[in-house]
Amino acid sequence: MPTSREDVKGLVPLNILVSALLTDMYQITMSYAYWKAGRHNENAVFDLFFRKCPFKGQFAIFAGLSEVIALMNSFTFSPSDIAYLRTVLPHCEEAFFDWLGQLDCRNVRLYALEEGSLCFPRIPLIRVEGPLAVAQLLETPLLNLINYPSLIATNAARLRLAAGADKTLLEFGLRRAQGPDGALSASRYSYIGGFNGTSNVLAGKLIGVDIRGTHAHAFVQSYTSFEQIKDPTLDGKDFVAIVKGYRDRPVCGKGSGSSNDGELAAFTAYAQAFPDGFVALVDTYDTLQSGVPNFLCVALALDDLGHRALGCRLDSGDLSYLSQEVRKMTTEAAKTFNRPFLATTNIVASNDINEESLHYLADQGHAIDTFGIGTNLVTCQAQPALGCVYKLVSIEGVPRIKLSQTTSKITIPGRKAVYRLLGADRVPILDIMLKDGEEPPQPGVPILARHPFVATKRARVTPTQVVRLQEMVWDGQAGGATSDMPTIHEVRATVAKGLKEIRQDTLQRLNPTPYKVSVSEGLHDFLHSLWEKEAPIRELS
Ligand SMILES: *[C@@H]1O[C@H](CO)[C@@H](O)[C@H](O)[C@H]1NC(C)=O
Repeated sequence: MPTSREDVKGLVPLNILVSALLTDMYQITMSYAYWKAGRHNENAVFDLFFRKCPFKGQFAIFAGLSEVIALMNSFTFSPSDIAYLRTVLPHCEEAFFDWLGQLDCRNVRLYALEEGSLCFPRIPLIRVEGPLAVAQLLETPLLNLINYPSLIATNAARLRLAAGADKTLLEFGLRRAQGPDGALSASRYSYIGGFNGTSNVLAGKLIGVDIRGTHAHAFVQSYTSFEQIKDPTLDGKDFVAIVKGYRDRPVCGKGSGSSNDGELAAFTAYAQAFPDGFVALVDTYDTLQSGVPNFLCVALALDDLGHRALGCRLDSGDLSYLSQEVRKMTTEAAKTFNRPFLATTNIVASNDINEESLHYLADQGHAIDTFGIGTNLVTCQAQPALGCVYKLVSIEGVPRIKLSQTTSKITIPGRKAVYRLLGADRVPILDIMLKDGEEPPQPGVPILARHPFVATKRARVTPTQVVRLQEMVWDGQAGGATSDMPTIHEVRATVAKGLKEIRQDTLQRLNPTPYKVSVSEGLHDFLHSLWEKEAPIRELS
């Protein structure tokens, strides 16, 4: 165990590297300067939010909250952390290190969206309230814990939308991921985003995601003939002889004359090992001439012994064409041998699949049931980072604003309440932020929703239902986490529900309709008056 976990009870982050010291140096130097000025315990409020949805889309999924709460629970600088910091900041006063060494999150409160909920630009995903120095120190680890999980969950949700609800999606990215944590997080948050499972065994053990896997080309290549099968039996029958019996009959109108016997031996051996979990990788030599006929021989032989082959996997070539050809062959074999199950046997595909290629396949037509997606999922090829930021919005009860030449970068000041207004059938109309203390919106009562920066963009909305988006999830003084962490299955269900309820044109790939994020009249006016107050008046001469 790392020293920083020595005294922590209960909830700790899954990744052992997540700790108070996993932060940027400027957080420590700022803390010292706050401490030196005697400001470290001033009441601060920070908002964590993003400004632009990823993947050129109009939605994102909020993920990573459980790990944030686990960090809050274990946040402490260990004696060895402090000893190290002394060496890098030798001029800092000793009392600072004493203070740092006893720091924790007992005076911090966190308010957050529900993990797995749909989220939109500028809405605070998390609001952190607490002593200035601690709240500041939390910036880097919190951003780190939210950005990638939310990005990968969003990416996975987009792939799910592209593939369709009935497909099985498997995450195969471990070998290409950005290091061990990139891989583990990808397995976890792609499941949350709508994937069905992963190839990552450690993710199965640690997180409880379903794991899947069969064999690679190496397994097929390692067999050259049936000679290598020492024991030909399965369930006490001569399985090899049964397989060979099928090999010598025309399967699907193709004699298996041109099929590769080593490949057939490999499939046979694999089926002996996994008679009820047989999936054949069919593209080692030639998918349609060899791989599929060999798969069919073994599937038929297994069926003779009462075992059901699961399917075959394509890992190269034109997946649209090949999958449809494979389906023709299995359908024909189903008729020829009167084995209906063959007509619906699973076709798995896994070759450089991304969101674009899923849409392309859907347009071209295909017969794929299961997609294995690796590199493009875990590396988020189409957008490698989400740009969540962490901004001070209030100090000692005084709202603060951050100005910018780029209007979209101006922050919305103060402690805010956030609501989602729903219309008929619970369809979200927009999100609205209110100034602290304003009356919450009421069902049936019209409210003016304003664009924060564009005066002419406003709408009067009469919600059917009003949902408060942020709940207190960590209350240090009341003992920490305010409720049990949801399971990954519950978070996954939250994602699915959100995607179902939102207007579907918000989710579409081409020209998605932006979802409105607004401020109340009160907050709008306050924002603009503070903006005017803080912006210097330019001197012209
Ligand atoms: C995979 O997940 C989707 C979406 O939740 C679901 O509809 C489908 O039934 C799942 N497939 C399997 C094999 O569990």
